[in-house]
Amino acid sequence: MDPNASGLAMRLAEAGQSHLLQFWKELSPEEQAELTLDLQGMDFQEINGFFKKAMETSGSSKQEKMDSRMEPVPREVLGSVTRDRASLKDWEVAGLHCISQSKVAALLLAGGQGTRLGVSYPKGMYDVGLPSHKTLFQIQAERILKLQQLAEQKHKIKCCIPWYIMTSGRTMESTKDYFSQHNYFGLDKNNIIFFQQGMLPAMDYQGKIILENKGKLSMAPDGNGGLYRALGNQGIIDDMERRGIENIHVYCVDNILVKVADPSFIGFCVKKGAECGAKVVEKTNPTEAVGVVCKVDGRYQVVEYSEITLATAEKRSADGRLMFNAGNVANHFFSFGFLRDVVQKYEPKLQHHVAQKKIPYVDAKGQLIKPDKPNGIKMEKFVFDIFQFAKTFVVYEVLREDEFSPLKNADSQDAKDTPTTARHALMSLHHRWVLNAGAHFIDENGRHVPAIPSLKDGTDLPIKCEISPLVSYGGEGLEELVKGREFHPTLMIDGAGVHELVKNGV
Ligand code: UD1
Repeated sequence: MDPNASGLAMRLAEAGQSHLLQFWKELSPEEQAELTLDLQGMDFQEINGFFKKAMETSGSSKQEKMDSRMEPVPREVLGSVTRDRASLKDWEVAGLHCISQSKVAALLLAGGQGTRLGVSYPKGMYDVGLPSHKTLFQIQAERILKLQQLAEQKHKIKCCIPWYIMTSGRTMESTKDYFSQHNYFGLDKNNIIFFQQGMLPAMDYQGKIILENKGKLSMAPDGNGGLYRALGNQGIIDDMERRGIENIHVYCVDNILVKVADPSFIGFCVKKGAECGAKVVEKTNPTEAVGVVCKVDGRYQVVEYSEITLATAEKRSADGRLMFNAGNVANHFFSFGFLRDVVQKYEPKLQHHVAQKKIPYVDAKGQLIKPDKPNGIKMEKFVFDIFQFAKTFVVYEVLREDEFSPLKNADSQDAKDTPTTARHALMSLHHRWVLNAGAHFIDENGRHVPAIPSLKDGTDLPIKCEISPLVSYGGEGLEELVKGREFHPTLMIDGAGVHELVKNGV
């Protein structure tokens, strides 16, 4: 137990991290045991190496240098749901066929801490206030169920879409408990595979690991690019191989409109023979917090919003649109072979990005200090940093209003990407599905509600309408339920049928 006797103190001294034991004598035996356990599992030389490299490659002069090497995505790798309408059906058919063969997996990145949203539980458990009060996890689970059903109906064969869910040390238990309490939302629990990404310590600008209290290091998940290490060391890549998975759709937890395992996207990537693909929406505002897919030194890459200069973000093409307008919606496609190569060969080549943060710490007197300006860094790998290794890479452009409304911030007057914007985006999409299926809405006076709701009292409130993913994955199958009918909002369409909540006094 004594750090001198066990060699721990020596290892720390060699790595310049001896300060981590400065309060050792003040700790209780339990605290000493916990600290020892945490420290013994760490490779300090490796962490120091990460710090050195990350610091070398960050900083504003490095950003400016990168900006000058950026080029937009060339037209030939781009597919678009609006410009390539003629091919869309073929892509969807191809994707659905792969799904019916149980060759497609969904992989959810849910290891983030939801700091901006300000909740202490995993973001997937958030209820944005839909009429059904479904959480993000439930919506995604039901989309998977429905897609399995669609593939089974079309191909008359039983299939499954395994769902890999990456959590972190902080979110693993609560995520697993939540799924088990809800009976895995009707999915087979053997096809939901939870795994855990790694954590890294926060460091000050001199490379010293920060203590968050006298006996505990300040730790954070190692970024969503921690995925690749975790896929290897938690046996996930082997699990995929055993199941015969050929295509993987990787996505982030926070987008309420996400088309999990989207057959059109999968089909597009497969038909193009791509090892790797990225879904994008057109970025129209230079300061929107999305990364942009582009080429740097001839290789595909996402330049993250935190790492692009404003001058480059504002550059425009001859047609007046932003030059770097391929906005990353954090939906990626990987062929299995490529993902395996990444895990086995390329992962160690990935560098950490630096996020400057205000990190609470204990000072030399043991007092907890909450700094009001950044005092250190967190190191993160990014999921898209492996694009550079793909031999064939494609980009698939979709419509923002159909597919992208992320939940990042808590509700407040001028915040973007909030529970309210997410709720409105989903209801507005479902409203359009109902109109396109040949129904319309009427108000309390029996008058037709215009297709585009008017601005009332300065608030652009959508028609309240929610369709369960168990009824429709992407707007299909609604005509038989609603064609030619009139509805009062709130309209709910779920497994039990079509109901108007207000009319029934619910
Ligand atoms: C992310 C993208 C950004 C994109 C935007 C779209 C990355 C690095 N950035 O930015 O390019 O335009 O979404 O909404 O992907 N996560 C983990 N482990 C971690 C950290 C995060 O699993 O250690 C997960 C989160 O749970 C979440 C996702 O990664 O599902 C995105 O994380 P977040 O920090 O919200 O990314 P953004 O900065 O919004």
